Amino acid sequence: MTLLSTIENKRCLVTGGAGFIGSHLVDRLLSQGAGVTVVDNLSLGRTANLAHHLGNPGFSLVTGSITDSRLMADLVGEHQVIFHLAAVVGVKHVLDDPLNTLYVNVDGTRVVLMEALKHQTRTVVVSSSEVYGKSRHIPFSETDDLVLGPSSAPRWSYAVSKLYGEHLALALTHQGLPVTIVRYFNAYGPRLAGDGYGSVVAKFIVQALTGQPLTVHDDGCQKRGFTYVADTAANS
Ligand SMILES: NC(=O)c1ccc[n+]([C@@H]2O[C@H](COP(=O)([O-])OP(=O)(O)OC[C@H]3O[C@@H](n4cnc5c(N)ncnc54)[C@H](O)[C@@H]3O)[C@@H](O)[C@H]2O)c1
Repeated sequence: MTLLSTIENKRCLVTGGAGFIGSHLVDRLLSQGAGVTVVDNLSLGRTANLAHHLGNPGFSLVTGSITDSRLMADLVGEHQVIFHLAAVVGVKHVLDDPLNTLYVNVDGTRVVLMEALKHQTRTVVVSSSEVYGKSRHIPFSETDDLVLGPSSAPRWSYAVSKLYGEHLALALTHQGLPVTIVRYFNAYGPRLAGDGYGSVVAKFIVQALTGQPLTVHDDGCQKRGFTYVADTAANS
C-alpha cells in the first residue's frame, strides 16, 4: 500500500509546492481528496503553477521560508503528512550561490524534520539521483557506494546537501519519526522552467523552437533516465 493510496482526507503540507514537481504533487493530492497547504518562498516557484487551485477550500498557499522555524512550527503542527520538496535546485542556481544552496537544503531540511519529530508527523523527504554522482555501477541501487566529486567543485554541494537530508531523516527514524526517502530522477513535463537553469529537456525544446542547434556535450552518447513529472508526483 502506498502513502498516496491512503491520503484521502489527510491534511498535507507540501514544502516547495509552487515549484515544478511540487505543483504536480499538489494536483495529485487534491485529486485524491487530501487537503493541501503549500509553503513556498517563491524564489524559484510560481503562483501561476497553482492558479487553478486558488479558491479551492481544500487548498492554501503560505508564502514563507522553510528556514523560518517559527512559521514551520505552526505549519507542521497543523498537518498529518509532510512532503518536503523545497530546495535550491538546478546546476546554475547551485553554482551561482552554493552558500544559499547549503543554507536552504541543509538548515531548511533540519527545521522541517525537527518540527516533524516533535509531532511524529509522517514525512516524505525528497532526494535526488544526483547523490549517485559519478557512479558507473549501472543500474544504480540505493545500497551502492556513492561517488561524488571534490568539495572544490561547488556543484557537489547540491548532492551533499541532499545526502545530509537523507542521513538526518534516517537518524530520526531512531527517535520514532516515520520517514520515507524518495530519490527523484530528472523530471520533464508541463511547468518545467524554460530558463535553462539546468534542465536539458527544457534547453533542447527552447533551442528547437527557436531554430538553434541543440547543445551536445562530448560525443553525445551519454545516457540519462527521465521521468514524466506526473509519474514523479504519483510515486512520491
Ligand atoms: N526536477 C528534477 O528533475 C529533480 C530531480 C531530482 C530531485 N529533485 C528534487 O525535487 C524537488 C523539487 O524540485 P523541482 O524540480 O520542482 O524544483 P523547483 O525549483 O521548481 O521547486 C523547488 C521549490 O522550492 C521553493 N523554495 C526554494 N527555497 C525555499 C525556501 N527557503 N523556503 C520555501 N520554499 C523554497 C522554490 O521557490 C520552488 O518552488 C527538490 O527537492 C529537488 O531537489 C528534482
